[in-house]
Amino acid sequence: MARSDKERNTVRDGADHEQGGEAMPAGRDAVPSIAPLPRMSFAHSAGFWLKVALPTFLKGLIIRRPWAEAMAERFDLDSRAVRYMEKLHRAYQGRSVLVRNPIRPQAVLFSGDDVKAVLAGTPQPFTPASDEKRAALSHFGPKLSLISRGADRPPRRELNERVLETSASVHSHAEIFRTIVAIEMNAVLTRAAEKGALDWPIFAEGWFRMVRSIVLGPSARDDVAVSRLMARLRGRANWAFMMPRDEEARNELLSRLQVYVNAAEPGSLAALAAAMPASGAATHQMTQWLFAFDPAGMTTFRALALVAPNREALWQSMEEVLGERRDLGFLRASVLETLRLYPTTPAILRQTTQPVLLASGALRKGTGALIYAPFFHRASSVEAADRFQPARWIGRDAEDLLPFVPFSAGDAVCPAKNLVPLLAAEALRALLSNHRFFILEPGWLKSDRPLKGTLNHFAIRLGLEPLHPPGPE
Ligand code: HEM
Repeated sequence: MARSDKERNTVRDGADHEQGGEAMPAGRDAVPSIAPLPRMSFAHSAGFWLKVALPTFLKGLIIRRPWAEAMAERFDLDSRAVRYMEKLHRAYQGRSVLVRNPIRPQAVLFSGDDVKAVLAGTPQPFTPASDEKRAALSHFGPKLSLISRGADRPPRRELNERVLETSASVHSHAEIFRTIVAIEMNAVLTRAAEKGALDWPIFAEGWFRMVRSIVLGPSARDDVAVSRLMARLRGRANWAFMMPRDEEARNELLSRLQVYVNAAEPGSLAALAAAMPASGAATHQMTQWLFAFDPAGMTTFRALALVAPNREALWQSMEEVLGERRDLGFLRASVLETLRLYPTTPAILRQTTQPVLLASGALRKGTGALIYAPFFHRASSVEAADRFQPARWIGRDAEDLLPFVPFSAGDAVCPAKNLVPLLAAEALRALLSNHRFFILEPGWLKSDRPLKGTLNHFAIRLGLEPLHPPGPE
């Protein structure tokens, strides 16, 4: 591959971080003076696998394990992981490094420039369809865009972008969605009032009714069998290639989803998908939509628990909710800030399809690249890293504050990067418009101390009282 002098110079300067966030394919004629990424020491590699990778893996990448979330919050394992990453960052002078392992070369990114380059270089030379992601997501079906390579990917990505309306801040079905969200969140409030508190089981029941109605259509509202099948497959997908695929459950799920695609109930995402050119991949893709709404629910519930005890945030939210401001800019910002603090995709993974040069050094073909989001979101260099400050996101898109990567960025950016904040903000509006919430659990949320690295959503409990108690008869 021939390169201009300018490019060659840029490559030579790479190690000095002069490359400005551009990945460069390194062909056979790659400039030989470029050093490969440095390699972590054995001790640092062991520390990384134990303190960073293991807790992340145990919490569950496709479905959360409640015991592991509880342990992570109790021992603040996610904060410890960030502190360990900072130690490595210092030890390797901010350069991305290769972590030792017996399977394949694996880079851990520490440089913001490298993060930008890797995300901008997706899907070539950094494919999102990394081996471990393929192993995990193929439990649902091979036609998901995130695990598709080459010519298979563009039409499947387009299906997502067109149905989820990636570039629209307000989805064209927003009015229908608003009605569904309001109905289900009001039902959640009724149940919580009966029980005297709002907890995850009550919230999740209403949230998934809402999700099934929006994704599959109103007739799926009570189809808990679909959610059960999803949970069964997600449990296996957590183990990726360590667990054989459950073909029976997968086929059953896909044929149930096909019924909804065929029905194409007006207003549902299934109906939009049915009308797309790549609709043959729709049922496979819908499995991801269904499970990805789980982190959206966790985030909405966490956002409520962060807003409720925070005077400033509560005041701004209430002003927005009671003033009936349609754009919900503050609540959307609160959702993004919740994801900065508690990213639900902590590990963004790529794999090189050819040799590549990054600012930190050269990568061989087949090298994995890991962006560990909590490090970039919570490093001590980030202003008020452990505080809930939605204002930093106001008027900004999820991709505006790189290397914050709540929804990733570039060609594989979450195609629901606008739909999720919209629905989460609508749910918060429905919950906050008639009730005041206060924290019952966890107690540490009531203090003014810096926020822990994990907020176990399974254990959040909120007390509630009506904003306008009924007057005397
Ligand atoms: C809190 C909620 C969510 C977060 C934080 C989130 C985050 C992400 C991230 C970080 C990625 C990129 C992964 C990568 O770069 O490798 C991604 C991809 C994706 N997300 Fe989301 N997501 C959420 C909810 C959703 C929902 C509700 C849907 C669908 C309705 C969805 C659909 C997708 C799809 C289809 C992809 C793959 C895109 C591709 O193949 O290029 N996500 N998401």
